[in-house]
Amino acid sequence: MRIGVLCSGGDAPGMNACVRAVVRSAFARGHQVVGIRRGYRGLVEGSFYPGEDGGIDLTPRSVSDWGRHGGTFLHSSRCPEFREPEGRQRAAAVMKEHGIEALVVIGGDGSFRGATAFAEHFSGPIVGCPGTIDNDLLGTDFTIGFSTAVRTATEAVDMLRDTAESHERMFLIEVMGRHSGYIAAITALASSAETVCIPETPTDVPALVDYLRRLKDRGKTSVMMIVAEGDELGGAEILHGQLEEAGCPFPMRVLILGHLQRGGCPTPEDRVLATQLGDAAVTAILEGKTGVMAGIVGSEVVFTPLEETYAGHKPIAPEFLELLERMAV
Ligand code: ADP
Ligand code: F6P
Repeated sequence: MRIGVLCSGGDAPGMNACVRAVVRSAFARGHQVVGIRRGYRGLVEGSFYPGEDGGIDLTPRSVSDWGRHGGTFLHSSRCPEFREPEGRQRAAAVMKEHGIEALVVIGGDGSFRGATAFAEHFSGPIVGCPGTIDNDLLGTDFTIGFSTAVRTATEAVDMLRDTAESHERMFLIEVMGRHSGYIAAITALASSAETVCIPETPTDVPALVDYLRRLKDRGKTSVMMIVAEGDELGGAEILHGQLEEAGCPFPMRVLILGHLQRGGCPTPEDRVLATQLGDAAVTAILEGKTGVMAGIVGSEVVFTPLEETYAGHKPIAPEFLELLERMAV
């Protein structure tokens, strides 16, 4: 069987490790893999990663050493044409023309919506691997890239703490997460931040100022506030303005971490997760599964219908937020 693999939407560290796993897992079982370039755009336009022999089939050597690199060597993109039935029809024709009988999609919720829509035009197996730093998909404890993004953000907060402490300041550090506070909440706990603002809870400026005054009275000389880009107010810059107006007791500085969080070499956790899930996706295809995402819950590989992975909000446990509060006294 010839299996196509693509990376779609926002890149995430570990995507390369996942492609490597798909290629090697298929090869070990006597099947071929082709790498589709630039996500769905490559499928619509018929653009493939070159194989070793001038063809398009990838060999185990094609993906040598891919596991430790961030980004995606297949490239990623956003492809508006794929949202239209005509674009997906063209993609199905490209699959047929090149004898591609199954598809692995590595991406986030948008990419999985695309995969679901593609099933109307392509009848072979389609299996997803969760590749997004946001950790916002149901059906897996963690997504590929999340661990690396948290490591990057935590290291940044550690460095900022030096300046915050030297100058007795407060830093508002904005991390990614338009709809999810996962990166913010886990980074806050890992970096001993005093407070966190996330989309899942209201951002109450007067209550925050009261809390900051209490911290100051108790002898705190620096404060790290982690703000998800999608918090209720819309990020750190806006919150900074409102805190200033409300009489924040610390001098403040803002840092927006931005795309730094999407790059860098993947953590061991992301490499291992990506390898397990790439392998599981091939297993699923060979077993005839379709329309599912491979994930890990606890220590089990599980397959969840793609529609269910993005149907609801992945909750952050309230106990986790309470723990954060108990630590910041
Ligand atoms: P992510 O996978 O990181 O959430 P996006 O939301 O940007 O990324 O989606 C990636 C791509 O998936 C889009 O550019 C588009 O080609 C495709 N896509 C997203 N939603 C749909 C949809 N409802 N129907 C068809 N294709 C979609
Ligand atoms: O979905 C991943 C993500 O990094 C979000 O956290 C962020 O809001 C978004 O992508 C930014 O995407 P881009 O800058 O690529 O449009």
